[in-house]
Amino acid sequence: MTEPAIILETERLRLRTWLDGDRNLFREINADQKVMEFFPFRRSYAEADALMAKVNENITDTGLGFYCMELKATQEPMGFCGLSYANMPDIFPPEVVEIGWRLATRFWGNGYVTEAAHALLDFAFDERQLEAVVSFAVAENHRSTAVMKRLGLHRIADMDFDHPRVPDTHPHLKPHVVYAVTRDEWLAQQQAAFS
Ligand SMILES: CC(C)(COP(=O)(O)OP(=O)(O)OC[C@H]1O[C@@H](n2cnc3c(N)ncnc32)[C@H](O)[C@@H]1OP(=O)(O)O)[C@@H](O)C(=O)NCCC(=O)NCCS
Repeated sequence: MTEPAIILETERLRLRTWLDGDRNLFREINADQKVMEFFPFRRSYAEADALMAKVNENITDTGLGFYCMELKATQEPMGFCGLSYANMPDIFPPEVVEIGWRLATRFWGNGYVTEAAHALLDFAFDERQLEAVVSFAVAENHRSTAVMKRLGLHRIADMDFDHPRVPDTHPHLKPHVVYAVTRDEWLAQQQAAFS
């Protein structure tokens, strides 16, 4: 792939499909111990390459997916932020869309994910007319739940669940907390911010 499809742009960021030149970054964020602290698996290079291709396919098929986040100033890929069908039939109805993120550690602490996710929630509710967006994380993943709270998602404790794809060898990574925002809540928040 040489030409990306641009999904959207913000002041500092471009969200786009993945390019062959992003492979090293994609491998890094699937293997780095700190980035993957709350995940049971580390991916080999071959597994990461296959996943990157699958993520692009998903974006082409549904318009949704974990888009590459590029820093406009340097054109570097930094990680991903995206909207994707949650695809966990035992936990969520099939139409439920999640918002998720993963960034190489050297880019943490700059508000990049919050900036990208804010634009994606506008896209989710204005253009895709979704009714709600959820996000979930291991309860101790405070950096991730901080992003959720910063964006105005709120905890729905009734929906907390044990992740079905986390193996029994990692019991501490099973319990997940769920946050969500509905379209009406998002639009009201945006109106309040501008009034
Ligand atoms: C979760 C994760 C994406 C959060 O990254 P992040 O950089 O902390 O998130 P944001 O982009 O929202 O940045 C917020 C930080 O930038 C700071 N910041 C600087 N400028 C900012 C701005 N303009 N707007 C918002 N925050 C800003 C905030 O103060 C905050 O810093 P703090 O952590 O010291 O409080 C990152 O830790 C990560 O990739 N983790 C590993 C993967 C993972 O667990 N993913 C989630 C699985 S559910």
